[in-house]
Amino acid sequence: MNNMKKAGIIGVGGYVPERVVDNFEMEKIVDTTDEWITSRTGIRQRRIASDSQATSDLAVEAAREALDSAGIKAEELDLIIVATLTPDSNMPSTACIVQDKIGATRAAAFDLGAACSGFVYGLVTGAQFIQTGAYKKILVIGAETMSRVLDWKDRSTCVLFGDGAGAAVIAEVGEDEGIASFELGSDGSGAEFLIIPAGGSRMPATCEVVQERLNCLKMSGPEVFKFAVRVMADSAKRVVESAGLQMSDIDVMIPHQANTRIIESSSKRLAISEEKMFVNLDKYGNMSGASIPFALYEAHRSGKIKKGDNVLMVGFGAGLTWGAAVLKWSI
Ligand code: ACO
Repeated sequence: MNNMKKAGIIGVGGYVPERVVDNFEMEKIVDTTDEWITSRTGIRQRRIASDSQATSDLAVEAAREALDSAGIKAEELDLIIVATLTPDSNMPSTACIVQDKIGATRAAAFDLGAACSGFVYGLVTGAQFIQTGAYKKILVIGAETMSRVLDWKDRSTCVLFGDGAGAAVIAEVGEDEGIASFELGSDGSGAEFLIIPAGGSRMPATCEVVQERLNCLKMSGPEVFKFAVRVMADSAKRVVESAGLQMSDIDVMIPHQANTRIIESSSKRLAISEEKMFVNLDKYGNMSGASIPFALYEAHRSGKIKKGDNVLMVGFGAGLTWGAAVLKWSI
């Protein structure tokens, strides 16, 4: 155990498509209002990919910036993990498309499916290879084109999501830096609360199911809401404790960017001040697997997270899944 190396983030990158769709534009698409969306979710606008952009295109932009930020070349990467629920296609993995596009000639590549918790799952998975010394440089990307799996006639879901990508390079860091603790969890009994029913082996995408829009995301909002509030607070408390810290030692918390009411409720339950919570969902909506890495990227770039800070991130999403981690920021 003592021979284990410490794994941490040495570079971050992010990308969102140019097209901004605000709530007033959503009013023209479905029967909704800016007032409803803002008061129920905190979302004011989201980014939507252009017709020519797929998930890998967003991922590549974020990846290039993360490599620059880490000061390494793509050829140095040993592994690429792409956390996504909106891959370019079911096969091959989006990670392989990214591997080719950035020229990561030595890297293994795979996609990871844990929906909105995907980046935390990817970070923790990648970290195991660094800790054992098997690999030296790993790129973890959360990237989504949620706009492609939304039912644009369902006002209860289409107003919530946006497109984007965030990326992080992980590598060995100093002994008192990097990932201090983590928790990954799942509860498949809630699988139906957040689901894209068609397009897999259970319900292949025939003309009939596409006509019924069963190839689009379906969500039981109130059930997910209750789960999110509970799991955000409980898993955050456990990872902070297992890092040997108090909640007051946390400098910045990066919650999954789904809904400000979930974030506010977690902040109360955790007795962590709202100023320590990084929130950017008003500008981007819920970018699923891209939410946490893009928030990390913006928090780092804006100086909100500084070297030496204790950063707590907590994700939750379809599965149901959750993932939380505490890191001592090393860049
Ligand atoms: N505009 C106007 N009215 C709407 C809209 C809309 N966009 N959407 C729903 N409504 C209506 C409903 O039809 C309903 O009307 P009714 O009472 O006449 O039937 C009313 O608003 C209330 O609907 P609820 O679903 O009860 O609204 P709620 O207050 O629960 O808010 C929300 C809905 C925002 C979706 C909330 O439940 C939520 O945030 N849930 C969690 C979602 C989440 O965090 N997802 C993250 C995981 S995503 C992933 O893993 C991919």
